[in-house]
Amino acid sequence: MGRGSHGCSVLGSSSLLLVLLLCVGSAAAQKASTWKTLSGDSPLVIAKGGFSGLFPDSSDFAYGNAPGAALWCDVQLTKDGAGICLPTINIDNCTSISNFDPKGMKTYNVNGVPLKGWFPLDYNSTELLQQVFLKQPILSRSDRFDGLSIVPVEDILSKYKTPAVWLNVQHDSFYSQFKLSMRSYILSVSKQFVVDYISSPEVNFLNSLLGRVNKKTKLVFRFLDEQTIEPSTNQTYGSILKNLTFIKTFASGILVPKQYILPVTKDNYLQPQTSVVDDAHKAGLEIYAAGFANDFLISYNYSYDPLAEYLSFIDNGAFSVDGVLTDFPITPSEAIGCFSNLNDSKTDHAKPLVISHNGASGDYPDCTDLAYQKAVADGADVIDCPVQVTKDGIPICMSSIDLGDVTTVATSQFASQTTVVNDIKATPGFYSFNLTWEDISKNLKPKISNPMSKYQVYRNPRNRNAGNFMRLSDFLDFTKGKDLSGVMISIERAAFMAQKLGFGVVDAVIKALDDSGYSKQTTQKVMIQSTNSSVLVKFKQQTKYNLVYMIEEDVRDAAPSSIADIKKFADAVSVNTMSVYPVTSNFLTNQTTSLVQSLQSAGFPVYVYVLMNEFVSQPYDFFSDATQQINAYVKRPDGGVDGVITDFPATAHRYKLNSCMNMGNNTPGFMIPAQPGGLIQSMLGAAQPPSTAPLPPLTESDVTESPLPDVNNNAKAPASSHAAIRVRTDVSAVLVTLMLCASLMI
Ligand SMILES: *[C@@H]1O[C@H](CO)[C@@H](O)[C@H](O)[C@H]1NC(C)=O
Ligand SMILES: *[C@@H]1O[C@H](CO)[C@@H](O)[C@H](O)[C@H]1NC(C)=O
Ligand SMILES: *[C@@H]1O[C@H](CO)[C@@H](O)[C@H](O)[C@H]1NC(C)=O
Ligand SMILES: *[C@@H]1O[C@H](CO)[C@@H](O)[C@H](O)[C@H]1NC(C)=O
Ligand SMILES: *[C@@H]1O[C@H](CO)[C@@H](O)[C@H](O)[C@H]1NC(C)=O
Ligand SMILES: *[C@@H]1O[C@H](CO)[C@@H](O)[C@H](O)[C@H]1NC(C)=O
Ligand SMILES: *[C@@H]1O[C@H](CO)[C@@H](O)[C@H](O)[C@H]1NC(C)=O
Ligand SMILES: *[C@@H]1O[C@H](CO)[C@@H](O)[C@H](O)[C@H]1NC(C)=O
Ligand SMILES: *[C@@H]1O[C@H](CO)[C@@H](O)[C@H](O)[C@H]1NC(C)=O
Repeated sequence: MGRGSHGCSVLGSSSLLLVLLLCVGSAAAQKASTWKTLSGDSPLVIAKGGFSGLFPDSSDFAYGNAPGAALWCDVQLTKDGAGICLPTINIDNCTSISNFDPKGMKTYNVNGVPLKGWFPLDYNSTELLQQVFLKQPILSRSDRFDGLSIVPVEDILSKYKTPAVWLNVQHDSFYSQFKLSMRSYILSVSKQFVVDYISSPEVNFLNSLLGRVNKKTKLVFRFLDEQTIEPSTNQTYGSILKNLTFIKTFASGILVPKQYILPVTKDNYLQPQTSVVDDAHKAGLEIYAAGFANDFLISYNYSYDPLAEYLSFIDNGAFSVDGVLTDFPITPSEAIGCFSNLNDSKTDHAKPLVISHNGASGDYPDCTDLAYQKAVADGADVIDCPVQVTKDGIPICMSSIDLGDVTTVATSQFASQTTVVNDIKATPGFYSFNLTWEDISKNLKPKISNPMSKYQVYRNPRNRNAGNFMRLSDFLDFTKGKDLSGVMISIERAAFMAQKLGFGVVDAVIKALDDSGYSKQTTQKVMIQSTNSSVLVKFKQQTKYNLVYMIEEDVRDAAPSSIADIKKFADAVSVNTMSVYPVTSNFLTNQTTSLVQSLQSAGFPVYVYVLMNEFVSQPYDFFSDATQQINAYVKRPDGGVDGVITDFPATAHRYKLNSCMNMGNNTPGFMIPAQPGGLIQSMLGAAQPPSTAPLPPLTESDVTESPLPDVNNNAKAPASSHAAIRVRTDVSAVLVTLMLCASLMI
């Protein structure tokens, strides 16, 4: 969506800078603790092209919104020898150059490889700075900030408040073929300005600067892929790495792809760390790691949590890299400023209450023994069991009544046993109440949930079918005696179960709790959650358990009459993410909802559901960082939530340990919650998504339900007629084929 010259005026609008500086702030709140870096200082955060994860790489917005981080500029030269910052030498993807000069495509030999595209050296600086505009080259990022101007290198050196400027010269030998000298250019700017770092993957280039630049300027040798050939020595980077003494003759540090330090397998699992950080430090070289971005697929070992990845490079007990090169400077700033040294932390803030959603379902299949074990190990306060019932009347923990969603039933011996149950859905399903516990536990395997599969984002494939199913009684045996503040049992479709299955789910849950001794203990709170008030009313009549009403609707507030109603049967309320922070086109709208405050004023703790680590599940305002999302919900100025219901309890629990929790006015900028509408406001009018109508409030009629019907004892599953089964088998064959195709496409 290049908006051409329209974009010029963006620079004039400073609203974005104001808004975001507030959000991002500076990384100043660093601890005095000693780091295992070469100098003992905290690692450097290097913003690649500024905050390029959000704004076009090397744009004024990107550079202006990375406070506290060193600013990295990839230097390119124009035909007239001016220096500009652009991430790649072929500038077609990152600028509007092909609109400006549709016939300008050339093929040049770049380090022995022919490269087709548009090159900055074919244009003069007036053309590039005034008539060509930046655009977002990465499709998963927003193009709504496209149209900003290209930035001259001199601006990076003078215009922004930053701890350091880092100039990267990726290509010197290429430019010299065209009589453009990077060396002369760099030497001339380093006479006028302080250049803190100069990096290059070319040995000869760095050697040519040696002794010619300011003594304080650090020269850093950049490693590319191990197999790539370095143009001046004609050796691969892998072989150059073996002689760090050689590098030390012309550089004070090295910059390596992060996989040099923590390699990953082909299927994206972490392998043991290499010795490269120690080797570099022993050789007296600083070592910086490159390739960090919150919205790239990181190793499955990190469970989609980018903060965990940074911590593994800077706070792993063994070493710390001296800096990280990133598209999202805010996340390493958090890691350094608020999340390091947490292993010894004695603080564990009460808020938010961490409630698992189907166990640690981000890592293991929903509601399996492994998902629950992981949730407990990860520090969940409460773990949850959504109750379904089997054909033989056994309550089990299963996140969906349709086993096709969460088990391998569709490829099992029961593949043909589908049923259409219109009370549930119009399409056929494999329902839990059609199989016995033995059928399920002996013949099916669990299947990991993949809520973000439409974005081709999948959860830990090695755990795809790991773990065992649990009955409610198994679950309660497991939780008993664990270090948990409570258990949460969720009940849906109680009326259907009573009338159509002849099963009284409320009574069955009460009995299971009695049998396991839960009704007589007080160390763990028993929470019962339902979207249907009639279920909670029935529990209230018979037990003293903690009752949680889950509001399904997207609402901005709750009418006083609806709150009065909820008071009659609930002790706490769960609300969805949209009702706290409404979202449009993946950005927070400027609507400030008052649902949380209204419920809290009425005395209810409020829990938000469901948080996930996958960046595709989050609006851009949370910077593809699950910790930012949690922080926004907990520290919301208009009423923070009391608990989070999450697929990734480890991330939420680690949040509770952070050392910047109660800093009041001294809270570092990167821990100040996102503002509703903050990013949208900063866009040009034409790029803003259309404004959305305010959400409705919750009304009394949303809450009130008729009482649960009595259990229909005549409803024991009747044998279905043959004719009906034949039709269903046909449908299910189609379904199975579809499912097979879908799984092959993965
Ligand atoms: C430009 O984008 C295309 C398509 O996404 C990609 O294949 C190519 O590698 C990109 N080029 C550069 C220089 O990033
Ligand atoms: C830049 O190129 C344009 C042609 O596109 C030309 O008119 C202009 O004079 C050039 N400017 C400089 C400073 O060379
Ligand atoms: C670089 O090395 C390759 C193989 O090792 C060799 O064929 C080539 O001639 C060398 N080039 C130069 C410029 O030394
Ligand atoms: C490593 O580099 C140093 C300095 O250039 C050189 O003296 C030494 O011979 C090199 N070692 C190897 C094994 O190539
Ligand atoms: C990463 O996860 C895999 C699979 O669970 C495990 O085998 C491996 O040891 C982990 N890597 C590290 C460095 O912990
Ligand atoms: C903290 O604990 C984690 C998990 O056991 C470990 O991976 C990490 O290296 C530890 N950090 C430090 C600084 O010891
Ligand atoms: C929210 O944005 C809309 C335009 O999208 C604007 O009309 C309205 O005034 C804004 N409201 C607030 C509270 O900023
Ligand atoms: C809630 O339960 C009642 C029975 O108590 C039932 O009539 C009603 O349909 C249920 N509401 C929803 C939204 O499922
Ligand atoms: C599944 O259970 C329902 C309710 O008991 C019953 O009507 C249906 O016939 C059963 N389907 C199969 C395939 O057993």
